[in-house]
Amino acid sequence: MTNDLLLDVENLKTQLPLDEGVLKAVDGVSFQIHRGETMGLVGESGCGKSMTVQTIMRIAPNFAEISGSVTFHRPNGDVVDLTTLNPYGSEMRSIRGGEVAMIFQEPMTSFSPLHTIGNQLIEAVRIHRPVSKRQAREIAVDMLDRVGLSNPRQRVDEYPHQLSGGMRQRAMIAMALSCEPSLLIADEPTTALDVTVQAQVLKLMRDLQAEFGMSILYITHDLGVIARMVDNVAVMYLGRVVEYTDVDSLFHNPKHPYTKALLKSIPKIGRKSRNRLESVQGSVPVPINRPSGCGFFPRCQVAIKGLCDRVDPPLVQVDERHNAACFLYPEVLEAVGETHPEGVSHGTA
Ligand SMILES: Nc1ncnc2c1ncn2[C@@H]1O[C@H](COP(=O)(O)OP(=O)(O)O)[C@@H](O)[C@H]1O
Ligand code: SF4
Ligand SMILES: [Mg+2]
Repeated sequence: MTNDLLLDVENLKTQLPLDEGVLKAVDGVSFQIHRGETMGLVGESGCGKSMTVQTIMRIAPNFAEISGSVTFHRPNGDVVDLTTLNPYGSEMRSIRGGEVAMIFQEPMTSFSPLHTIGNQLIEAVRIHRPVSKRQAREIAVDMLDRVGLSNPRQRVDEYPHQLSGGMRQRAMIAMALSCEPSLLIADEPTTALDVTVQAQVLKLMRDLQAEFGMSILYITHDLGVIARMVDNVAVMYLGRVVEYTDVDSLFHNPKHPYTKALLKSIPKIGRKSRNRLESVQGSVPVPINRPSGCGFFPRCQVAIKGLCDRVDPPLVQVDERHNAACFLYPEVLEAVGETHPEGVSHGTA
């Protein structure tokens, strides 16, 4: 990893004004991605992972109110704040899909059932690259080959429904990578796949990253995938980043009680479970009804009464390259000018 900054997300907020109140789907998220780095966003369903990347890509619902900044370093040298661009304007359209590509859990949402895989790949390539139709077709065949589709010359003329789930996922990756993006955003791309196909697709993404040298923002609820895929990781809870560090520190020296609960809920090797995070006690509150104080307080086993239910812990550096938002750490107490009622205990969760 170099120190070459590609994406700098700073205090990003996405609020949805609903009849019931303002839903704070993303509530002050900050992280950075450097060139060639794989960054992970992890947390239970409803924590705001997808809304964070939808906001970055400017595909959040159009009634969403966005603030903060998303500084993107374009390949042409321009530095732009994506939150200031017109979501439908030419600059955002050439960034989205061309310089920042996205893959999802369900590939059928990125393919039209009415057109062949090849024609859709050709169209995607030609939107972002000045090549002839024939050249674009060759790029399409080459990409299908590189993502491991057998008989790519034949497959290029097939329709999405003719491919298996795993093959469709590979075709979607081919489509995303055909424009050689600087950043690939992957939102739970292997969640719907069985374990064997998931392992193949994860390996494919790692291989392609090495080959293309792109950065990846990888979103998942699955810490097992995080362990295999990413360099740095941000743990999200209730629209916030509650812990941010490198992947080794997260697994070997977790700081936040939420992270510790997530780690405990990973099943032992040999036991298969799809919903690995569901065994954290309690559930994610709706972000309209954010509790006062620490958002994790109602579920936290080591909460400090009179403090955690009253004051909101900011994300602060508590160790080398390791940030956490929790009052178990004196640096966080200091940041808000509070003291622990009975002295500070470390990492007791
Ligand atoms: N279009 C929408 N309208 C209302 N609420 C939404 C919408 N999209 C997402 N949300 C809410 O925003 C929060 C974050 O959702 P999301 O980003 O999808 O979480 P995750 O991807 O981590 O599962 C959730 O409470 C979800 O219900
Ligand atoms: S701040 Fe308090 S309630 Fe929140 S995670 Fe830390 S100990 Fe638990
Ligand atoms: Mg999601």
